[in-house]
Amino acid sequence: MFTFKHLILLAGFAFLMFSCGQSGKQEGETQTSDKGIKIAVIPKGTTHSYWKSVQAGAMKAGEDLGVIILWQGPQKEDDRQMQIQVVQNFISRGVNAMVLAPLDDRSLVQPVNTAVKKGIPVVIIDSGLSGGDYSSFVATDNFMGGKMCAKKLAEEMSGKGKVAILRYQEGSASTGKREEGFLAGIKEYAPSIEIVVDNQYAGATIEKAFQTSQNMLNRYADIEGVFASNESATMGMLRALKTAGRAGKVKFVGFDANKDLLGALKAGEIQGLAVQDPYRMGYEGVKAAVAILKKQPFEKNVDTGVLMVTNENLATDEVKKLINF
Ligand code: BDR
Repeated sequence: MFTFKHLILLAGFAFLMFSCGQSGKQEGETQTSDKGIKIAVIPKGTTHSYWKSVQAGAMKAGEDLGVIILWQGPQKEDDRQMQIQVVQNFISRGVNAMVLAPLDDRSLVQPVNTAVKKGIPVVIIDSGLSGGDYSSFVATDNFMGGKMCAKKLAEEMSGKGKVAILRYQEGSASTGKREEGFLAGIKEYAPSIEIVVDNQYAGATIEKAFQTSQNMLNRYADIEGVFASNESATMGMLRALKTAGRAGKVKFVGFDANKDLLGALKAGEIQGLAVQDPYRMGYEGVKAAVAILKKQPFEKNVDTGVLMVTNENLATDEVKKLINF
């Protein structure tokens, strides 16, 4: 359904197309030359600090490789229509390649195929697609990341107790894989742990994640451990545990990191955070797109890695590199 929001977006694009022809840089663009390769980089959303790291990596790759990066995405990770609109606008604008983190693994297949049919190669980053003619996939091994979270939570709970999993959003392939991996990991590492609730979704905002978490904690008062599968879900669960006076009492493993989550880790309110490398994801996504355009060799699959961050390894160089917010 075409809304006022989409009208604003289109007007913004019209302005961008007009003004790009008139003068230099636009917000979110590194302009190296008027005749340079233009690569659209489209995140799932733009509010999580995670995406700011993806953007930084993409911009750096643009500078290093001498290409123009056009960064544009929906504000929230549940705005399927907006992300489709952004892809379609870049197709009509005529970018040379696209780097896309699809917020839904089905509804973005057709827009990706339209781009490819028009000669615009697509690199998928961060979150998978169920099909589509994209050229390369650059992401975390999210299933393995979820298993890693199960192992950490099982250790913290000495292999027993009642656990809740806070899922993120239906259609989000990245978090779906983490949730699958977590459940498989609990079965493998701690069969005595009882999963008391595994069908609750946080939704795309911290506020919605907070409300879902509060309801969960009220309904299952005997929960002893929780897992949340991304930054906003982890933030919402943390807020709910604090509000209930249970932060630090319930064992808690989350996904992604930001200043607040690291603070909670240091305070003992979170026991572990699975931290990805979004900067590298943005950089490698642009690098693959440029290689494809220049008909150079490129990797079909790039695993950008995930690390379980705890108070024990927080000060190591390996971790500091990932959490320099
Ligand atoms: C992270 O979780 C998911 O929403 C995205 O795929 C990304 O990996 C952002 O918080």
